[in-house]
Amino acid sequence: MSIQKRLVGSYLVVISITVLILEIFLIVSVRYYYFHNIERVLMNQAELSASFFQQYFAEEDLEKQSERLLQGFTTHSDAQVQIMDSSGRLLQDSTGLDFGSLMTPYPDVQAAIAGQPESWKGKDSGTREPVLAVSYPLKAHNITVGAVRFVSSLTGTISTINHIACLLLGVGLLVVAIVTILGLFLSGTITRSIQDLKQAADRMTEGDFRINVHKRYRDELGSLADTLNKMASRIVQSEQLKNDFISSVSHELRTPLTSIKGWVITLKASGDGNQDLLHEGLDIIESESDRLGRMVDELLDFSKLDSGRITLDLKPVQLADLLHHIGRQLGPRAARQGVSLHIQADEMLPIIQADENRLKQVLINLIDNSLKFTDAPGSITVEACTAPGHVIVSVADTGTGISEGNLANVLQKFYKGDPHATGSGLGLAISDQIVKLHKGELQIASTEGQGTKVQIRLPI
Ligand SMILES: Nc1ncnc2c1ncn2[C@@H]1O[C@H](COP(=O)(O)OP(=O)(O)OP(=O)(O)O)[C@@H](O)[C@H]1O
Ligand SMILES: [Mg+2]
Repeated sequence: MSIQKRLVGSYLVVISITVLILEIFLIVSVRYYYFHNIERVLMNQAELSASFFQQYFAEEDLEKQSERLLQGFTTHSDAQVQIMDSSGRLLQDSTGLDFGSLMTPYPDVQAAIAGQPESWKGKDSGTREPVLAVSYPLKAHNITVGAVRFVSSLTGTISTINHIACLLLGVGLLVVAIVTILGLFLSGTITRSIQDLKQAADRMTEGDFRINVHKRYRDELGSLADTLNKMASRIVQSEQLKNDFISSVSHELRTPLTSIKGWVITLKASGDGNQDLLHEGLDIIESESDRLGRMVDELLDFSKLDSGRITLDLKPVQLADLLHHIGRQLGPRAARQGVSLHIQADEMLPIIQADENRLKQVLINLIDNSLKFTDAPGSITVEACTAPGHVIVSVADTGTGISEGNLANVLQKFYKGDPHATGSGLGLAISDQIVKLHKGELQIASTEGQGTKVQIRLPI
């Protein structure tokens, strides 16, 4: 069932129930008002008649005077008037029917001859018409000598009440109809937004990410539209990065391959005689193969890290030893480039639980970056110190630095400041993942033209 139908349906249920309850209440009130009014009028007339009797006829015989009494009672009333003696026998009736019949089956008459005024609503036994009757005791010297009964037909009143009920029902139906139309309109505003979103999502499933969902209102659906637009543009961006990456990786792979192939051809052509050339060629082929191997390893590593398939081999690590070891490893390269590499590690550094090989990989990545982006005569400082609960290792250089715009992106996978530069753009992304696996934090601060400082915080 569509959302629109569900929304309109629920509006309708709520409104219909409300209207129904209101209608029932109104109709019951109208009925009560009409019947109560008639009863009050009859009761007044009966009371007046009884006091008239008490004043002027108390000394006389009821049966003998009943005709005169009836004339007196009927002058001021349109209702049917009946007079009964103390046993409930009918003495007079203004419609002239049923003299002498016993009226005691009517509860109001029973009450009146017992001394209590009473009203009764029901069907007249003769005409089968709905009537309202009020009986009032006639008293002489405080003794009930008979009763007077005023009877009014309810046929007219009931038809008036029915008319009013029909009118109320009509109004109720009108309200329900208006609410239905309004509901369709209002729910349309919601469903249109949802349809927009669905269309966009459909296009995305088909691989078309150049969407721009129109934001109709500033509500939850509007912000969902924003989110979807953002998601699509991120996907487009990462597609772009992926494509760049593939072309740069193929380029990276091609360079060593070309060099290997070139040397193989040279060596084949030179024959067996030239031992020096052979050695040089084989050395280069070896180092280029190593480079290829490293690149493939890096890629595999990253895919494992990225999909969370890697676990750390945590062991106690002496940070100072590790840093000095790396320093010795990269020192010759720095010296070749004319860059000075300083390692400043306190021997009192606490021992931390870490995966030594992974940590080494992170530090080599960072120092490799610094070496790549620092020209002679620059300097690189690797420093380790303690902070409450943490050790902080920083790699600072005096190199080219990173522009503010690039700084936000350098941790992204495949991102390179210069798309044509060597490298896969994975170094920092991998390092960040590894530090996160250690429950640590990697932060980069940089000023363009002055240098870069990368800090990693590791919990002790
Ligand atoms: N120390 C630094 N000085 C200046 N720029 C840096 C520095 N470190 C990183 N960058 C910038 O951040 C980008 C991403 O670095 P990252 O280490 O992730 O990739 P890469 O070094 O280009 O490639 P890879 O490390 O995979 O060989 C670099 O291309 C460079 O533009
Ligand atoms: Mg790098």
